Amino acid sequence: MSLVIGNSSFVIRPRPLGPSAALFLAVVILTGCGDAGGARVLNRKAAEIIATTTQPADTVWLDDCELSSVDDRSGSPGKSKCFVGKPIILAGQTYPRGVGVHAPSEIIIDLDGAATRFQAVVSIDDEVGKLGSAVFSVWVDDRDAAHTAILRGGGPPREISVDLTNAKRLWLVVDDGGDGIDKDYADWAMARIEMKPGATTKPRISRIVDPAPPAIVMMKPGDHLTGVPEIHPPFVVGATPGRPFLFRVPATGAGPMRFTADRLPAGLKIDANSGIISGTLKERGRTDVTIAAQGSLGRSSSTLTIIGVEHRLAQTPPMGWNSWNAWGTSVDEAKVKAAAAAFESSGLAALGYAYVNIDDAWEGSRDAQGRIRTNDKFPDMRALAGHLHRMGLKLGIYSSPGPKTCAEFEGSKDHELDDARTYAEWGIDLLKYDWCSYGKISNDLPRAELRKPYELMRAALDVCGRDIVYSICQYGRGKVWEWGAEVGGNYWRTTGDIIDTWACMSVIGFAEHAHAEFSRPGHWNDPDMLVVGRVGWGPTLHATRLTPNEQVTHITLWSLLAAPMLIGCDLSQLDDLTFSLLGNADVLAINQDALGRQAARVARTGTLLYGPKADVTEIWSRPLEDGSIAVGLFNRGAGEATVTARWPDLGIRGKHNVRNLWLKQELAPADGSFTTKIPRHGAVLIRLTPAPK
Ligand code: GLA
Repeated sequence: MSLVIGNSSFVIRPRPLGPSAALFLAVVILTGCGDAGGARVLNRKAAEIIATTTQPADTVWLDDCELSSVDDRSGSPGKSKCFVGKPIILAGQTYPRGVGVHAPSEIIIDLDGAATRFQAVVSIDDEVGKLGSAVFSVWVDDRDAAHTAILRGGGPPREISVDLTNAKRLWLVVDDGGDGIDKDYADWAMARIEMKPGATTKPRISRIVDPAPPAIVMMKPGDHLTGVPEIHPPFVVGATPGRPFLFRVPATGAGPMRFTADRLPAGLKIDANSGIISGTLKERGRTDVTIAAQGSLGRSSSTLTIIGVEHRLAQTPPMGWNSWNAWGTSVDEAKVKAAAAAFESSGLAALGYAYVNIDDAWEGSRDAQGRIRTNDKFPDMRALAGHLHRMGLKLGIYSSPGPKTCAEFEGSKDHELDDARTYAEWGIDLLKYDWCSYGKISNDLPRAELRKPYELMRAALDVCGRDIVYSICQYGRGKVWEWGAEVGGNYWRTTGDIIDTWACMSVIGFAEHAHAEFSRPGHWNDPDMLVVGRVGWGPTLHATRLTPNEQVTHITLWSLLAAPMLIGCDLSQLDDLTFSLLGNADVLAINQDALGRQAARVARTGTLLYGPKADVTEIWSRPLEDGSIAVGLFNRGAGEATVTARWPDLGIRGKHNVRNLWLKQELAPADGSFTTKIPRHGAVLIRLTPAPK
């Protein structure tokens, strides 16, 4: 692709572009590096006047609109506040009104031709000092009506004034300034829409909905518990000899099911009815076990490789559930048991989901010996673990290396060994260890300081006598992907917390391109837990704000990324779409592929990510153990796009069989390229297998 910018012409090669570089180019193309249209630099005096002027009656303030469907990184824009809830202050001037967002952000407002003008003062909030950068743009229908240069924290704001006569739709867009989205607290100060005198309609914040349901096979919870048996991944598990072993063979199909395992290593046995393999590996070594499942409608068999070696947990990304995105601090034992019961009744356990993880808010106080106790919501952790283990499921728990967790519960500081031992006694199988109050909240601690608390807990886990998967959560500080494996992490969060918006999920997910090389069996990048289904981070839940096609993109990406598949919704309220997204065995097989190679982006077209002219498409691929490759085709643009995956970009040649995994359909073989139409924010996931000559 060649582009003309000013007097220079550039050839863009998709492969080497990092996400920020690509975004920066988009910004440059959009802005031509400066303010344009109805945007101008605002001086101090004028700012003061704007901040104190009252508006005529026909003015509608943006902060008076219902903002819950606004698409931004934070998920909750500030009303008359910057997004962290403090007053809006730009270059020293406080503004009493406005909306504070976190880039990227897209506010779409339907006007019905009843408005005359949009005005605002924009910049990065003083809250972040000189950090943060963003480009603001205002689109009227499909027209770029105003955009700013790249604005930086502390710099002069811009006044925006745009004519809205006869306009149907207004788009307020904030995009990153080319250096990543960190600290991009962006304010639309004094943002207001003047209406025609006597206008009978009001501006409405709008959400673009999918024109049609996504192209995926729809299933209902329980559907997998009928039909012929099928054994599912993981097909490779690691465990430490001498420690308790537990693995339930994931198998769907009509029961009653009977399981057998040939050549199980010494110390292990399989329960014929449940398919649960338990015991203790007696010796080190690698064993290929033949597993068979006999159901009422047939038989299936497969090979399970058991690796009996120290530090070989999480050979494939953990699959399970975590309480946080659904329940926040309102999690309790009943909710955890309900999640486990839903895993069983829906068939998700039979598809390989095994971990049931309690996030923050289970902790009580310490006893006189310093031993951590649960709070009232978890009367008996050991009994809870036993309950899950009898189902073949595993129990995860959460703590912080600091004195307090993020929700202000007791952390593990100075009690690392006590806590690891307590977890082992309770029968805990996974620990999420969350930075929170450890040390100063700072992004630039030396790497040794960032590693220290994680090394300390690693050492404690090593001597606790139980295999506990170690999940490092410190939001990506100090490029954790470069050293997460060295400190014994089985997976590490690469970002801040996920929220159920496209701006957030897509930024987090697509940024994983930069970390692909660091992911491998036992050590995975973690772009955070899933946000499909009913989420809420507290007692009140809502349906995910992602559109169905955005949800397809979410699960497609996480599968390609070999990300931990940790469901974040209330499993007792699984609707068919959510179940179909989480329970597609073809898609899960990509996530769980034993080669364990994370996908990376191999091609990209387009320049704009947000606004009515957004046009970016991407191709991602990963090689699979059987010699086939998984390819994700993504449309990040505003409308339907025709997307092509080209063989040279994928590193393959010749004729390939093509399977559409979401549709579970074999398509016509392809040679040289594969082209498909993809709706706005949607994805297509295919598996390409070399066709026999
Ligand atoms: C942090 C983590 C979240 C969650 C909460 C719990 O914000 O990133 O995933 O664990 O703490 O307080």
